[in-house]
Amino acid sequence: MEKLKKLHRFFGKLFFFTFLVGAVVCIYYLNQSKVEFTPRISFHVFSAVAVFLLFSLKMLFVKVYKQFYSYVKPLGVTVALLSFILFSFSTGYSVVTFDKETISNNSSQTETMVAKLPKGDLDSGRKLFNNLCIGCHYPDRKDYKRSAPGLKGLYQEKTLPVSKKPVTDENIINQLRKPIKFMPAFTDLSDKEIADIIAYLKTL
Ligand code: HEC
Repeated sequence: MEKLKKLHRFFGKLFFFTFLVGAVVCIYYLNQSKVEFTPRISFHVFSAVAVFLLFSLKMLFVKVYKQFYSYVKPLGVTVALLSFILFSFSTGYSVVTFDKETISNNSSQTETMVAKLPKGDLDSGRKLFNNLCIGCHYPDRKDYKRSAPGLKGLYQEKTLPVSKKPVTDENIINQLRKPIKFMPAFTDLSDKEIADIIAYLKTL
């Protein structure tokens, strides 16, 4: 019995340590990569926080509030179950999507994105620009407004003003969805709205 207890304690510590290292790595990655919060990621974060809280509660009941000792067992089982679900769900997801991602990374994913972009409407694009972009970007000047470049003549240039990537629809879409530095991401814009904005940018 004593041996089992020691083993349980050892694996508990190992689990907690691995959990913390994993969490720090994930939070760092999430911060760096600006990935969107998909339902899967939200579920993952939610379960992880739950595991952390339940585990801490269990330790409190073991060490401090011993009058609640009877809850320790169900708490332990829940933590184990939840960790298992969290781990297998996310691992399963990576395994299932791995092939797709590696294939589309070096193929023409963005080209098809552009091909699928609906026809842009100039007037709607101008309105969207005046609502969303003009606060930071001059449409009729090339100089900077604080840290944002003026967009006059954007499509007549070879390269984008800051990143120096080629001026293509694809790179503009990327700048709107996942901006390079300080610009806010416009993840709510529909493909049609993006096409409208691009149609307008081409006239600047
Ligand atoms: C809150 C300010 C802000 C708003 C609003 C904003 N931008 Fe930007 N934009 C920036 C900044 C700052 C940069 C410089 C690069 C960066 O930080 O991503 C930038 C860069 C760009 C670039 C050049 C990217 C490159 O690779 O050089 C384009 C094109 C652009 N923005 C288009 C837009 C469009 C279109 C909108 C409206 C839908 C918009 N921006 C709204 C701040 C803004």
